[in-house]
Amino acid sequence: MSKKVLIMAGDGIGPEIMEQAEKVLRFLNEEESLGLEFEHALVGGASIDAAGVPLTEDALNLARASDAILFGSIGGPKWESLDISIRPEKGLLRLRSEMDLFGNLRPAMLYPQLADASSLKPELVAGLDILIVRELTGGIYFGQPRGIRTLDNGERQGFNTYVYSESEIIRIGRLAFETAMKRNKKLCSVDKANVLEVTELWREIMTDLGKQYPEVELSHMYVDNAAMQLIRAPKQFDVMVTGNMFGDILSDAAAMLTGSIGMLPSASLDANSKGMYEPCHGSAPDIAGQGMANPLATILSAAMMLRYSLGYGATADRLEAAVSAVLDQGYRTADIYTDGTEKVGTAQMGEAVLNVLKSSN
Ligand code: IPM
Ligand code: MG
Repeated sequence: MSKKVLIMAGDGIGPEIMEQAEKVLRFLNEEESLGLEFEHALVGGASIDAAGVPLTEDALNLARASDAILFGSIGGPKWESLDISIRPEKGLLRLRSEMDLFGNLRPAMLYPQLADASSLKPELVAGLDILIVRELTGGIYFGQPRGIRTLDNGERQGFNTYVYSESEIIRIGRLAFETAMKRNKKLCSVDKANVLEVTELWREIMTDLGKQYPEVELSHMYVDNAAMQLIRAPKQFDVMVTGNMFGDILSDAAAMLTGSIGMLPSASLDANSKGMYEPCHGSAPDIAGQGMANPLATILSAAMMLRYSLGYGATADRLEAAVSAVLDQGYRTADIYTDGTEKVGTAQMGEAVLNVLKSSN
């Protein structure tokens, strides 16, 4: 049976990195007869330019009808002055929300070949393999009421609402515990329970859930301490679970431990493992169109997609091994370049992955 993959390249470096990921996917699709059908839709600024909105109903319907979505990146200075309600980011947030993609898996794994590219000492990060489970459709990102209002005294006030209902906490908690069970059975829940009631409830529910997973060693940490510990001694963590905003911030910090955010993929899953896959990095408008962006995070996102939503775990393994092989061969885009390696551009990096795959059938 064929499976539908929707490709949404987006803005900035999105199209150029996606071209490489698509090339690699199409090769695997043919060679392994995976039966994937590809469709394309605009999102973010590209969609604003073409249709006036960051996500059209047609694009949303295509996304709904797909088995998985491969997403590039969105946003850029061109659209920053627009009203917040129609900015490129809204397209992404709406996709997450409308498709109920509540479970965001963000691995931060250090390729041994890149230990020198980390901003931390190699001994602090060697062997690093963290998975952040970020709640993606709730919390302060979506809480109502929100807005900017004018008070009686004429002063303007911005406000957002940080809410989590029990059921939202339970479902992300379950995903985190299940994920921990498949790894090293160690889970750290990150909150701000010393100040915020919403995360006091979060902590209470995580603790209760923990009773159903006695094999998992559960710990709790305040988010400020977690940020510090990630930089002080990151290897103490295995799986971390946290809310939407804390997860946004901590996953960027964790990503940088690995040397480059340009290496990190992510998966956003609904309750049935239908998902959207995207690199953790943004649209990098400063280098867009120059052919120097690192396509590996997008290629690794395609691997996650093959594994989690399309049921092709062995193909995913093969693709991940190919990325590792390319690093062994010494190829580096500018973001992960260190002395003694070979600096390549976006297309050359994609080509290098393809060449490894072609010689590994
Ligand atoms: C991310 C991004 C998004 C977020 C933006 C682009 C809306 O930073 O996926 O981490 O804040 O979730
Ligand atoms: Mg972010």
